[in-house]
Amino acid sequence: MDMFKLVILLFIFFLCSSLQTSRSTHTCGTAVCSRTEPEIRFPFRIQGQQAKSCGFPGFDLSCNSLNQTLVELPYWGKFSVQGIDYASQEIWINDPNNCLPHRILSLNLSASPFKGIYYQDFTFFNCSNLNHPNYGLDLNPIACLSGVNHTVFATSSTRVESYLSLSCQRVSTVAVPVDWPFYEQILSADLSDNMGLSWDNPKCRNCESRGGKCGLKANSTRELICSNAPLRGIPRSARYAITVGAGVPIILCILGVLCFVCGKVKSYAVRPHDIPEFNPTVAPQPTIVGGLDGPTIESYPKIVIGESRRLPKPDDNTCPICLCEYLPKDTLKTIPQCQHCFHADCIDEWLRLNATCPICRNSPQRVSSLPLHEEYS
Ligand SMILES: *[C@@H]1O[C@H](CO)[C@@H](O)[C@H](O)[C@H]1NC(C)=O
Ligand SMILES: *[C@@H]1O[C@H](CO)[C@@H](O)[C@H](O)[C@H]1NC(C)=O
Ligand SMILES: *[C@@H]1O[C@H](CO)[C@@H](O)[C@H](O)[C@H]1NC(C)=O
Ligand SMILES: *[C@@H]1O[C@H](CO)[C@@H](O)[C@H](O)[C@H]1NC(C)=O
Ligand SMILES: *[C@@H]1O[C@H](CO)[C@@H](O)[C@H](O)[C@H]1NC(C)=O
Repeated sequence: MDMFKLVILLFIFFLCSSLQTSRSTHTCGTAVCSRTEPEIRFPFRIQGQQAKSCGFPGFDLSCNSLNQTLVELPYWGKFSVQGIDYASQEIWINDPNNCLPHRILSLNLSASPFKGIYYQDFTFFNCSNLNHPNYGLDLNPIACLSGVNHTVFATSSTRVESYLSLSCQRVSTVAVPVDWPFYEQILSADLSDNMGLSWDNPKCRNCESRGGKCGLKANSTRELICSNAPLRGIPRSARYAITVGAGVPIILCILGVLCFVCGKVKSYAVRPHDIPEFNPTVAPQPTIVGGLDGPTIESYPKIVIGESRRLPKPDDNTCPICLCEYLPKDTLKTIPQCQHCFHADCIDEWLRLNATCPICRNSPQRVSSLPLHEEYS
């Protein structure tokens, strides 16, 4: 029962810290179903672990026997909570039985505080494996809904829809919440990625982004209060995250400045030897020849990664420029001519100085008639 003791200790810790930091507003701690599960705080609360006044009506969560965090949506049932972004007011859910498409067929958010961010219509088809011609379409079946003798597909493409309706049974059309607006039609999707939903009320966006602590006013069930808790009032885990989150970039920044300074010193030291008269065949080159202009850089396609981290190319999960892993919500940019992907901020910075793709050295825009760069030689 070590876990039990730990929970008691944590409880006492939170109680003490809340008594210490503020006596006027009632403060609520965070809770989790297990260490790997999302951190739960206002407007959510875990029933049985956090007081009723620590959550907003309709945002009650529970833990199941597998220590998964569950949310129960009215008319739709229980879902596992995969992630919560308190600042953007989004929650990502999935089916605890690992067949989200099955749950999508009965999607009903009408009495829930959550709604889709964008919607796209998908039509489900049930095809008998015996008489289903393939039409040369390489469609992605929904495995958990298919069986030995039938295969289920979901499509948002009118062309695929008309093909499939010739030989398959149309099940239904559902407006499915999606992470970003797809302007093109999707031939087939297995719809098993975490579903992102957002909420409008309670509005804690501003409070969260200011680093404040959102909560209910004492004795109220709807009125909000934003207590701007200093760093001391934040639970230890969050403080740790903030320290690491701020510390690492600062160290990287210092290293970057050092490298920059070293580079400058070196280039000064080297410069006298590079005087053209030493080597008359090499014409002096302008220092910045290759940068692209802002509108060109802006015109390259951008995508935002969803919580499921679907990437344009599944094996490229780090940005080749900053060597950081792509995370949900990161904005990526591709160079259309070579399809290589980077963090948008990283590649923008690069393209302002160099008109070439940092990986393949293809020139994205011009067929260069300029003298070649140093990098080519
Ligand atoms: C759930 O968490 C408890 C402690 O919090 C642990 O004892 C138990 O083994 C966990 N159960 C599973 C299925 O992981
Ligand atoms: C959701 O379910 C409720 C109760 O069954 C029903 O009244 C409502 O029409 C449903 N909404 C949608 C969009 O299906
Ligand atoms: C598809 O059809 C098969 C038999 O024709 C049936 O057993 C199955 O439940 C159907 N699936 C769906 C999702 O409608
Ligand atoms: C699939 O079809 C075969 C042949 O018609 C039949 O013998 C078998 O029972 C079917 N399987 C299922 C799970 O319906
Ligand atoms: C809140 O309610 C408690 C008892 O329900 C009462 O003693 C207290 O005075 C109330 N506080 C405010 C600010 O109304």
